[in-house]
Amino acid sequence: MKLGGDRIVYLDNAATSWPKPAAVGEAMAEFLRDSGGNPGRSGHRLSIAAGRIVSCARDAVASALGMSDPLRIAFASNATAALNTALYGFLGPGDRVVADGMAHNAVARPLTELGRRGVQVDWARTDRAGRLDLDHLESLARSLPSSGATKGRPPARMIIVTHGSNVSGALVPLSEAAGIAHRLGAVLLVDAAQTAGLEDIGLGTLGCAAVVAFTGHKAMLGPPGTGGLAFGPGVEVDSFAPFVRGGTGSSSGSEDQPAFMPDRFEAGTVNGPGLAGLLAGLRWMEERGRSAVRRAELQAIGRLVDGIRAIPGATVHGPGSREPRCAVMSFTLAGWSVSDLALELDERYGVLCRVGLHCAPRAHRSLGTFPEGTARLAPGPFTTTDDVDYTLGAIGELAVERKYGP
Ligand SMILES: Cc1ncc(COP(=O)(O)O)c(C=O)c1O
Repeated sequence: MKLGGDRIVYLDNAATSWPKPAAVGEAMAEFLRDSGGNPGRSGHRLSIAAGRIVSCARDAVASALGMSDPLRIAFASNATAALNTALYGFLGPGDRVVADGMAHNAVARPLTELGRRGVQVDWARTDRAGRLDLDHLESLARSLPSSGATKGRPPARMIIVTHGSNVSGALVPLSEAAGIAHRLGAVLLVDAAQTAGLEDIGLGTLGCAAVVAFTGHKAMLGPPGTGGLAFGPGVEVDSFAPFVRGGTGSSSGSEDQPAFMPDRFEAGTVNGPGLAGLLAGLRWMEERGRSAVRRAELQAIGRLVDGIRAIPGATVHGPGSREPRCAVMSFTLAGWSVSDLALELDERYGVLCRVGLHCAPRAHRSLGTFPEGTARLAPGPFTTTDDVDYTLGAIGELAVERKYGP
C-alpha cells in the first residue's frame, strides 16, 4: 500500500464525527429554506413546520437512547450545556457526589466550582486502562456507619459516570452503575457524549433514577450545536432546577419558568436547522442499522488496538480489543512527542487525529499519561479497513524512523 499523497484518513470522530452523511447538510439547508419559522412560538405554517421537525428529532433521540417518552428530553447546545444543567440544577451545598476518574472537563470543571460552593466531591478509582472500579465507586457513594472513612457522611445524592471514555475508550457497564445508584437511592448521571447514538443506553430500563447527557455532533452524526439532557422514567424532573430561564413560547403570561417538560429546560429559541440535521443523522444511522455500524466501528478500533500493540515502541493506554470499549483508543510512541507524532501523521500521511489531554486531565492522571497526554484515534462509520491498515503502516514507518521499529 502506498503511503502519503493526497489521501485523508479522518480518525478524530471522538472530537466530532466527519464526514456527515450528505442528508445532514441537505436537511439543514431545507429547514432554512422551507420551514424556517421559530418552533413553538407562532401559530403560522412555518412555525408549525419547524415545530414538527423538532418533534421528530425528539422522537428519534428517544428511540436512540431507549426511552419511551420523548418529552423527557430537553435539547441543549451540546453535552457540556446538558451536564451543567444537570449538575447545577441538582446539587447544592451539603450534597455529596461521586464521579469517576475518567471524567471529561465538562464534568470536572463544574464539579470543581460546585466544590467551592459547598458540594462534597469524591472521585472513584480507575485502573491504568481506564476501567472504573465499581466497588470503590459504591463504597465511596455509600455512607457506612461502621466505616472510618465514610463515618457520619451522608450517602451520595448523585453518581456520575463517563459511559465511554474519550481518552481510553473504556466503557462503564451501565447496568452495574445503575444497580449501585438504585441500592443507594442516588441519581445516576451518565455522560454519554461518546456513546449516545451508537451504544445501547437503554435509559427506559436502567431501573434507577437516571439522567443522560448526550451530544448530537459525534456518534449521532448531527451538526455541532446540538445535544441535550434525557430524563429516565425513574427520575423526578422537579428535583432539577432550570439552569437557564427565558422565553419558551408557552405560559407567556407568567414570569416563572414553566415547570413542565421540555420547556422547563428549553429557554430561548432551539437550534432548528441543527435539529433537522440531527434528525437526518439519526435516520441515516437507523437505515444502516445502529448495531451494524457499531460492529464495524468496533472492528476498526480492535484492528487499531491490536495493530498498534504489535508495533515496537508503541504503548496502548486503554482496554484490549476484546474488552468492553467504544471506538476510541489512545497510544504513545517511544521517541516521539505526541505533538510531533500528530504533525507527521497529518502532514506526511494525511492521518488526522487528536493529541494531548483531550479536555480530560483527570483521565490522563488515571492512565499515568499526564501531563504530555496521548495520541488518540477514533474511527467512525465511514472508516474502512484500508484506512486502518494505512494508518498502521504510517505509525509503523514512524516507529522505524526513530529506531524503535523491527
Ligand atoms: C466524555 C465527554 N464528555 C463531554 C464532552 C463534551 O461534549 P460537547 O462537545 O458536546 O459539549 C465530550 C466531548 O468531547 C466528551 O468526550
